[in-house]
Amino acid sequence: MADGAAEFVVVANRLPVDQATEPDGSVTWTRSPGGLVTALEPLLRRRRGAWVGWPGIAQDDTDVIDEPVQLEDIEMRPVRLNTDDLVEYYEGFSNATLWPLYHDVVVKPQYHRVWWDRYLAVNRRFAEATARCAGPGATVWVQDYQLQLVPKMLRELRPDLTIGFFMHIPFPPVELFMQLPWRTEIIEGLLGADLVGFHLPGGAQNFIILARKLLDAETSRGSVGVRNRFGVVQNGDRAVKVGAFPISIDSADLDRLSRGREARRRARTLRAELGNPSKVLLGVDRLDYTKGIDVRLRAFAELLEEGRVDPADTVLIQLATPSRERVDAYRLLRAEIERQVGRINGDFGSVAHPVVSYLHRPVPREDLISFYVAADVMLVTAQRDGMNLVAKEYVACHGDLGGALVLSEFTGAAAELRQSYLVNPHDTEGVKDAIEAALNQTPEEGRARMRALRRQVLTHDVDRWAMAFLSALDRSGG
Ligand code: ADP
Ligand code: G6P
Repeated sequence: MADGAAEFVVVANRLPVDQATEPDGSVTWTRSPGGLVTALEPLLRRRRGAWVGWPGIAQDDTDVIDEPVQLEDIEMRPVRLNTDDLVEYYEGFSNATLWPLYHDVVVKPQYHRVWWDRYLAVNRRFAEATARCAGPGATVWVQDYQLQLVPKMLRELRPDLTIGFFMHIPFPPVELFMQLPWRTEIIEGLLGADLVGFHLPGGAQNFIILARKLLDAETSRGSVGVRNRFGVVQNGDRAVKVGAFPISIDSADLDRLSRGREARRRARTLRAELGNPSKVLLGVDRLDYTKGIDVRLRAFAELLEEGRVDPADTVLIQLATPSRERVDAYRLLRAEIERQVGRINGDFGSVAHPVVSYLHRPVPREDLISFYVAADVMLVTAQRDGMNLVAKEYVACHGDLGGALVLSEFTGAAAELRQSYLVNPHDTEGVKDAIEAALNQTPEEGRARMRALRRQVLTHDVDRWAMAFLSALDRSGG
C-alpha cells in the first residue's frame, strides 16, 4: 500500500509480528499473537488497515529504512529502535518510570531527564510514521502508555485525522501522577485524541481530574460510570471524550478449543505427569512485580506449613513468561521468585514430585489451554493490574463449570468477575483463606460461581470491546 493510503491505522509499541535475522542474513517474521491483533484483524483487512509498531529487535544499522511489509493482508509499518532507544525509551521511561508509577508505585519509579528526552523523540518518530501512512480523514487508534504523546503530535501533523487512544494499564490516582516531572506534557499529549479510553471508570475519572487541575480545562462534572459512560474535557475548541471500555478476550474461541478432545486429553496427561494429585493450582503471568507471584507463593507455603494443604496431594504450577529482563526490578524479582520456589520444594517436595512446578518460558497456546482446563484453582493475585486477561481466559476454558478463580481486588477484571474468590493481595491471611475455600468448595457452589463468571466473559468479548471503542470514536466527530 502506498504512503497516505491507509483508512484505519493501529499504532502500538509492538507490531503483532516479531522480526528476526537468520544466520544467513535473511529476515523472517513470526506472529506474536495477542488479543488486540485478533480483535482488530478483520477490521484491518476490511478497511485498508496498517499497523505502526516496533518489530521487537534492536537495530543499530542506520542505513536501514522503515520499509513497510505486507503480512497476512495487513500492512506492517516498522518503527526501528536502536539500542539507546530501547534503553532509554522502552526499558527506561516506559518500564522503569511510567509502568511502576501507574501501578501504584509497587516499585519506586525513576525519573531521568535523558529518558524523557528519548521518550519524546521516539513518540515523535511513531507520530511521523503514522502521519505518513494514514490516508485523508483516516481513523487512527493509538495504544498504551508507551505512546501517550503521539495523539497531540499526530494532530499537529495531521489535523484531518480522527484519533483514539486506549490505555491498557491502570491510570493512577492524582496524588501519585503528580510525582511525574512531565505530568502536564503527558496530559496534553493524551488530549490530542478525540476519545481517550480506560478500562475502568476510576481511571477515566483520574484523567478528567488531572486535566482540570493541571491545565485548568473545563470538564464535565458528571462522573464516568455505568449510567454515564463519557466525560468530556474541553481542550481549546475541541471536546475530548473520555470513557471506560473494559477489554476482554476471544471468549468463544477459547471456549471451543478448551472443550475439544485434544485439550481434554492434554489436560489429563498433564495431571498424570504431575502424579495425579487431587488438586492442581495454577498461576500464569509475565514475570512482573505487579502480578503478585510472591504473594501467592507465600500464602501457599504458609498453608503447607500449617497443614491446611497436603503437599503429597497438591501441586501449584507457575508459568512465568520472561519479561523486560534488562530492567533491574525484573532481575531482582526473578531471583526472589526462584528462591521462594526452591525453598518450598526443598521443604515440602519429594524427589519425584515438586510441590511447585515452575516454568520460566512462554508456553504454546494449545498447552496453555490444557493448563487452564487441568487447574482446579486459578491464582491471580496481582498487586495492581489494568485488566488481567488470564483471569478471563481461565473462565472461558471452564465450560465444564469446574474450577475456581481466586482474583485480586486490584485488577480491572475484579470489577466484572464478582463471583470469583476476591482477595486483597496485601492481606496474606485473607489470601490463604480464599485459596483454602476455593480448594474445598462444594461442586454445587463451584458450578454456581463459574456459571455466573462465564455469563459475563462469554457475553463481553474482545470484539464487543473494540466495537464499543470504535463506534464511540466514530461518534466523537473528530
Ligand atoms: P499482561 O498484559 O500484563 O501481560 P494479561 O493477563 O492481561 O497481562 O495478559 C497476558 C497474556 O499473555 C494472556 O493472554 C496470557 O495467556 C499470555 N501469557 C501469560 N503468560 C504466559 C505464558 N507463560 N505462556 C503463554 N502465554 C502467556
Ligand atoms: C502489557 C502492556 C503492553 C505490553 C505487554 C508486554 O500488557 O500493557 O503494552 O506490550 O504488557 O510487555 P512488553 O514490554 O514485552 O511489550
